[in-house]
Amino acid sequence: MFNPISVIEKKRDNEVLTCEEIDAMVAGFTDGSVKDYQMSSFNMAVCCRGMIDREISDMTAAMLASGSRLKRVSDRPRVDKHSTGGLGDKTSLILAPLLACCGLDVPMLSGRGLGITGGTLDKLEAIPGYRTNLSQDEINSQLKSIFCVITGTTKDIVPADRMLYALRDVTGTVPSIPLITSSIMSKKMAESLDALALDVKFGSGAFMKTRELAEQLASSLIRVGESFEVKTTAQLNDMNFPLGQMVGNLNEVLESIDVLQGRGPASVTKLTNELCADLLISCQIFDDRQQALSRLETLLNDGTAYEHFEKMVAAQSGRLSDLPTLAKSHDFKATHHGKLTRVDCYSVGMAVIALGGGRSEVGQAIDHRVGLQMLIEPGEIVAANQPLCKVFSDSSLRLETAQEWLNQAFQIQ
Ligand code: URA
Repeated sequence: MFNPISVIEKKRDNEVLTCEEIDAMVAGFTDGSVKDYQMSSFNMAVCCRGMIDREISDMTAAMLASGSRLKRVSDRPRVDKHSTGGLGDKTSLILAPLLACCGLDVPMLSGRGLGITGGTLDKLEAIPGYRTNLSQDEINSQLKSIFCVITGTTKDIVPADRMLYALRDVTGTVPSIPLITSSIMSKKMAESLDALALDVKFGSGAFMKTRELAEQLASSLIRVGESFEVKTTAQLNDMNFPLGQMVGNLNEVLESIDVLQGRGPASVTKLTNELCADLLISCQIFDDRQQALSRLETLLNDGTAYEHFEKMVAAQSGRLSDLPTLAKSHDFKATHHGKLTRVDCYSVGMAVIALGGGRSEVGQAIDHRVGLQMLIEPGEIVAANQPLCKVFSDSSLRLETAQEWLNQAFQIQ
């Protein structure tokens, strides 16, 4: 008879767990025989004591085994990208159709925003009609015809992660590298991939506040990917300033369309293309990085990538021709002359939440038409009254709260 207490005690005493013990803990939690309070003690013990690589891989496998995996539908290499979150990161919307044009299958199961981190599904739902709840059959048939899909996880993909994440969220056990790694990688491994590109962020707008912590997370994610024989690469990217100009939902879709049409901000185009190049090289579509990057540029500039995005959106019932307009635009201006030394991403994210464009609780409805457009970057000199960003909002009350956050965000010296 399995005794969860003995496993919790072992971890508390810093002993290494066997694969069977980890399997029993995760399977028991998923079927209800291991109670919430036992699982949260286990999570806390992992938070404090950590796990060795083998335990993290076993934890990932145990979580993966709690549900089903997507089926492969073709011989094309199958890839995905995961970003650890941040502000203004709309690379997924561009990367999936772009890689589909390069001969890869991209079965992207994405999430929603929570806290200051935006969510790909929320952004795509700014497109009227876009469905983010495709069944596994629908995912498979779209992959066969269009080679890419961006949708939410289905209920039978890694149910253990949904339950564990909800528990971690309310028990202070989210920030643990072994728990984050197994949570992210179990969902990615359920996509049956050949290669995965990771974009691990660090800074004021990221989960990992320092580059060192981001490096540790990236190494842990790579080691687990490799243990599943998935070619896994990682980039570390600075999230001390939002990516691109737009932060929100509808405005990020508009900026993604600009990138897909070859006229988006250089920062978004560059990051997307670098992540795509990682995958094209992992899958041996190119062995020269410059050639891969130049092919990607061509696909963005000649309209091929945008045409493919239109196909993906239409296949998921989205109507690009019915995009709404952004909420009313207001300038947020500098109070005095000086140099913009820092933009605190956390406060920028809180401004978007105050506008109604993000969530402070799971399940909250969001307003897709609100958001921000950043107009200057750290290091630039600003004049008094110069607009620092545009704020899109139809509510003067919300606008006022957002402005309070923005006052804290921009540091001018
Ligand atoms: N994203 C996930 O999917 N899981 C975590 O634990 C943290 C970030």
